[in-house]
Amino acid sequence: MMDLYNEKNVTIMTHPLIQHKISLLRDKNTGTNEFRKLVEEIAMLEGFVALGDLPLEDVEVETPIETCMTPMISGRKLAIVPILRAGLGMVSGVTALVPTAKIGHIGMYRNEETFEPMEYYCKLPRPIDERTIVVVDPMLATGGSAIDAINQIKKHGGKTIKFMCIIAAPEGLVKVHEEHPDVQIYVGHLDRELNANAYICPGLGDAGDRIFGTK
Ligand code: PRP
Ligand code: URA
Repeated sequence: MMDLYNEKNVTIMTHPLIQHKISLLRDKNTGTNEFRKLVEEIAMLEGFVALGDLPLEDVEVETPIETCMTPMISGRKLAIVPILRAGLGMVSGVTALVPTAKIGHIGMYRNEETFEPMEYYCKLPRPIDERTIVVVDPMLATGGSAIDAINQIKKHGGKTIKFMCIIAAPEGLVKVHEEHPDVQIYVGHLDRELNANAYICPGLGDAGDRIFGTK
């Protein structure tokens, strides 16, 4: 298998705050309210890294002392695209960093027998081709949902795409990276493997159910 830690366009987080919060997420005794807060906080911390290449331009600002040229984020508009449902939990963490970002939605669920993603909704902000698009979903398991979501965004004209997840399985991450080598992928933690039900081990269970308190 490729060395995912050294792949260009794959960033696996090592920051202790992210690792600590992911460990709290994994705990089966972490309740819905805390789980939601942690997902939001991790998304903000990962977003801080993922948006580290936003272009800057110097603008004129008058301080109480003098007028100066000082950098501000320029031009490119941002779109955040959660994969429903679980991706919704990450949106507020990224909008806390970029409040003006527009938000698209892609609805997908995994068929429980085939594990194939089934798409049921897609609405993206226009003009999508002029935006930096950050797709968010806490779990990258087989990679099917991420691959299909990115295909859908590219079909609509999306060009600059980043994918951000909290936990990934190595086999799924390899697939997404091979299918979409141009997409920058950010992973909170790389787990061991998928089990026979295509759940990530050790993982955190079903992210959607834990965020929304279903099941
Ligand atoms: C989960 C998760 C991803 C997908 C990952 O969603 O949020 O979207 O599974 O699995 P994959 O990499 O094998 O495609 P799920 O289908 O459970 O839907 P939900 O968010 O509505 O619960
Ligand atoms: N989706 C989840 O929510 N968890 C997994 O472990 C795999 C897919």
